[in-house]
Amino acid sequence: MQEVLKSAGKSGGEDAIRVENLTLAYDSYTVMKDLNFSVKKGEVFVIMGGSGCGKSTLLRNLIGLREPAEGKIFYSGKDFTAASREEKDAMLRNFGVLYQGGALWSSMTLSENVALPIKEFTKLGDEDVSELVNLKLALVGLRGFGDFYPSEISGGMRKRAGLARAIALDPEILFFDEPSAGLDPVSSYRLDQLILQMRSSLGATVVVVTHELSSIFAIADRAIFLDANTKTQAAVGSPKELLEGPNETVRIFLNRGVDPLAKR
Ligand SMILES: Nc1ncnc2c1ncn2[C@@H]1O[C@H](COP(=O)(O)OP(=O)(O)O)[C@@H](O)[C@H]1O
Ligand SMILES: [Mg+2]
Repeated sequence: MQEVLKSAGKSGGEDAIRVENLTLAYDSYTVMKDLNFSVKKGEVFVIMGGSGCGKSTLLRNLIGLREPAEGKIFYSGKDFTAASREEKDAMLRNFGVLYQGGALWSSMTLSENVALPIKEFTKLGDEDVSELVNLKLALVGLRGFGDFYPSEISGGMRKRAGLARAIALDPEILFFDEPSAGLDPVSSYRLDQLILQMRSSLGATVVVVTHELSSIFAIADRAIFLDANTKTQAAVGSPKELLEGPNETVRIFLNRGVDPLAKR
């Protein structure tokens, strides 16, 4: 399935994702329009903005859970929006997703949760599956916790177990929706570090939806700001560039409500 991406990747250059003139909508309700940005291979790209601006909606469109109202999404140059169901499934196989809340099956142990995608998408025997599961749990710092149920561990550990499941098939692109939501600052910091670690160990491209400033500054190579008022993107760039950039809304967002460039 990697051939599907690679053979079509000629026009994409180094962009893992390219979004062109994207409009996101629920029926007649337009959430965002005219989105244009690209995510480079191997970078941590943050989708930020206030509550309800459309971050999760953008993520859902990126991973094929919803069809864009208009525009195109390319993965390594291949048009995802125009792909057949079969091609889409092959492309999706290269994605790992950690949904808001972690979304583990509560009736299954951590091992069973992580084994799920491995059993679904590979033909590995039980022993190999179990070895791979243990490896993935160890990678996220959960060695020895395989037999625990989600309800028996902390929120931070649940997020990490969700991450173990997301990386089960060595994805090329990892998507996170509000990974630090509901976590205390220390667990949140650890998760950020783990996200950076996954990027280097898997060589993955990482897309993170968050409005947590500490996370944005800790992990983002570049970020896009979705502005609920104008219903489109206000800026794309590194957090430092955006803090000093021309868009006042973005500067104020990144500086906790105070414009860092305002005259005193
Ligand atoms: N399934 C849905 N149907 C209709 N409207 C939705 C749905 N999901 C979200 N919305 C609306 O779309 C807008 C963006 O939501 P969302 O993408 O969840 O925002 P964010 O993740 O930035 O907080 C909000 O106004 C929300 O009420
Ligand atoms: Mg959301």
